[in-house]
Amino acid sequence: MGKIIAIANQKGGVGKTTTAVNLAASLAVIGKKTLLIDSDPQANATVYLGVDPDACQGHTLYEAVCGRIDVQDTVLDTSIGYLKLIPSHINLLGAEVELLELSGRELALRKAISPLKGEYDYILIDTSPSLGLLTINALTAADSVIIPVQPEFFALEGLGKLLGTVKLVQDKVNADLSIEGFLFTIYDSRLHLHNQVIEDVRDHFRQKVFKTIIARNARLAEAPSYNKPAILLAPESDAAGNYMNLAEELINGNPTTV
Ligand SMILES: Nc1ncnc2c1ncn2[C@@H]1O[C@H](COP(=O)(O)OP(=O)(O)OP(=O)(O)O)[C@@H](O)[C@H]1O
Ligand SMILES: [Mg+2]
Repeated sequence: MGKIIAIANQKGGVGKTTTAVNLAASLAVIGKKTLLIDSDPQANATVYLGVDPDACQGHTLYEAVCGRIDVQDTVLDTSIGYLKLIPSHINLLGAEVELLELSGRELALRKAISPLKGEYDYILIDTSPSLGLLTINALTAADSVIIPVQPEFFALEGLGKLLGTVKLVQDKVNADLSIEGFLFTIYDSRLHLHNQVIEDVRDHFRQKVFKTIIARNARLAEAPSYNKPAILLAPESDAAGNYMNLAEELINGNPTTV
């Protein structure tokens, strides 16, 4: 059975999508069958992988979550053989409203994707910068959550709220949800502040923090405009190396040294 991992932090722009796309691509390149689910109405992960959300309208996560179509009919191939994508569309915003009227509204995504679990080694879910119903659905469907954190001054603000939501989901609907780890992203080793924040978070959360740190890297900022994960755009780059290390650490807790 595959492992389902949500990538979540309600803070915007901390590297959720960059992590979801590049970690998924790295896992697939390593040979793990991987599905990336874009659960953000902004559809950034969809576009990142070169898919036009309008072109797949009618066959996106929205229709699967609302039970209008078979989830299998939403799964797309990507330029990496072992990496598949369930695309998003801005109309996914409507799901937040439609689901509100249902009982078991937090279970819709779990139900929709349950037929897929046996087909993949990893299913990653990219979430939006909010703790709304879609993110609750992602946490309810997930076995674990990766929390990207940019080591800035306000990084820790809001983490309490996120952890509160994780606890709520654990208590009410998904007792098995675990924290896979906090992941530092967009890190600049020259900044004293970044190193200080990393030390603070490590002191606080200890074994829950990934050893791998994702450095600030121009390749990662450029990659979406080429519609390519770093591992395809620049396989020898530090950016690709960072996410390959993360994939290795996720698989066996033992990062390679690239
Ligand atoms: N390690 C990195 N180095 C340089 N730029 C990065 C890095 N990670 C992400 N970025 C850039 O930072 C911006 C925000 O990243 P990203 O879209 O992954 O964040 P997000 O948390 O998904 O945002 P949102 O909350 O809007 O969904 C993007 O322009 C992305 O290209
Ligand atoms: Mg995003």
